[in-house]
Amino acid sequence: MEVKIVENAKTAQCDVLIINKFEGENTSNELINSFAPEDFTGKCGQIFSIHTRNESPAKQILAVGLGKREGINNNVIRENIAKAIRECAKLKAKTVAISLDTDYNYSGPAILGAEIGNYHFDKYKNKKEHRINEIFLSNVDEELAQRAVVVSDSMKLTRNLSNEPAAFATPTKLAEIAQNIEGVETEIFNYAKVEEMGMGAYLAVAKGSVEPPKFIHMKYIPQNPKKRIAIIGKGLCFDSGGLDIKPAASMLNMKDDMSGAAAILGVMKALNKLKPDVEVHGIIAACENMPSGSSYKPGDIVTAMNGKTIEVDNTDAEGRLTLADALCYACKLGVDEVIDIATLTGACVVALGNTVSGIMGNNDEFINKIIETGKLVGEKYWQLPMYQEFRDNMNSDVADIKNTGTRYGGASAAGMFLKEFVTDEVKWAHLDVAGTAFIDKPYKEFCKGSTGVGVRTILKYLINQ
Ligand code: BES
Ligand code: MN
Ligand code: ZN
Repeated sequence: MEVKIVENAKTAQCDVLIINKFEGENTSNELINSFAPEDFTGKCGQIFSIHTRNESPAKQILAVGLGKREGINNNVIRENIAKAIRECAKLKAKTVAISLDTDYNYSGPAILGAEIGNYHFDKYKNKKEHRINEIFLSNVDEELAQRAVVVSDSMKLTRNLSNEPAAFATPTKLAEIAQNIEGVETEIFNYAKVEEMGMGAYLAVAKGSVEPPKFIHMKYIPQNPKKRIAIIGKGLCFDSGGLDIKPAASMLNMKDDMSGAAAILGVMKALNKLKPDVEVHGIIAACENMPSGSSYKPGDIVTAMNGKTIEVDNTDAEGRLTLADALCYACKLGVDEVIDIATLTGACVVALGNTVSGIMGNNDEFINKIIETGKLVGEKYWQLPMYQEFRDNMNSDVADIKNTGTRYGGASAAGMFLKEFVTDEVKWAHLDVAGTAFIDKPYKEFCKGSTGVGVRTILKYLINQ
């Protein structure tokens, strides 16, 4: 979709002009004011459109309700413009002008909403979805608009990679994409090197697959960084469960088990353009979890990079094993902060559903900063408890720790497991996005499939430093 800045979007020649209606106010358009039904009150999300019969440069006018004028913010605009854009697609529009009657600077969220709403994963379909080709805006804050385009490009990369089948989005493919990100220096470690570095937990997971593991380390290093941050994404390109194989229904979405990694690739892609004043290390321990003659087995004892031994209780609790080594590696870099993002536990989905991600860590202030950043960009996080009980359940008779606890409180157990591989000096936050990274029916600005969760929060957090 092309974004064009015009003198006056309201008078642009286009298929649809999107305007807004605030609750209790008239719109800027007489046709809408006269012909909209009485129950079109401007409540958030309401939509009414009308043909202009050549009385206006736009063939149709579409009014979207934004609620009360006082309640307006970036999230309201982004979500409702996405919705309006999808309506425009139903009207078979190709060109859309957006003109909102507000002094609020809406160019950024409007562009982002339009791009998110216009997204479809139809690469493999012969019949493509209808898409909007161009949007017109006026009175644009160039910097915000530019930033919105960059963020939406990142989200597209993340959503595409996560939506791709495992046959395409292999560890090798992720490594290749990482190596091609501009302004970022990337190192790829192959099996032998990973083994040499002592990442026994990660390799245990990887060794059951014919797809070779790739440990990816991307570096964005500005002139005078204010801080050094590592961001880690769970990169299970497919999670069959391993020998503790998943039932068919649970395996169906497990090509998406690299959504955390996809989010990190999306974030890294934006850094060269957004130029935050922080050093960023993007880390992905990519592999597949497969059942085979070379798979790791329940009862195996593996050693992570920090020397801790782990009894494999369940081969389906693989994400935490790969993250254990990635966390050790990140801490060894001597960074100030670490954020990991992972489709880690079904328990988190049970606890928080598909619209709220779990957050845990070793520093409440850091966690709260991320929660607040999430609110600004429309991504919800809820802190889950980290108590010793959860750790006690993972005591092993034969190793330092087991990779699972009891049936209950699984998201917290996973968090307490990861904590074992984080050094105390570094501030660490763990985002469990098992429920939010992909959805099985459209929700708000998102279609079915990958949502790109985490990209906006992490980018905003980095820019704000
Ligand atoms: N990738 C899954 C978690 C998951 C579940 C992500 C549903 C997205 C949607 C993870 O590797 C897993 O299998 N976790 C197990 C852990 C259990 C064996 C302790 C789970 O949640 O069942
Ligand atoms: Mn699993
Ligand atoms: Zn998994």
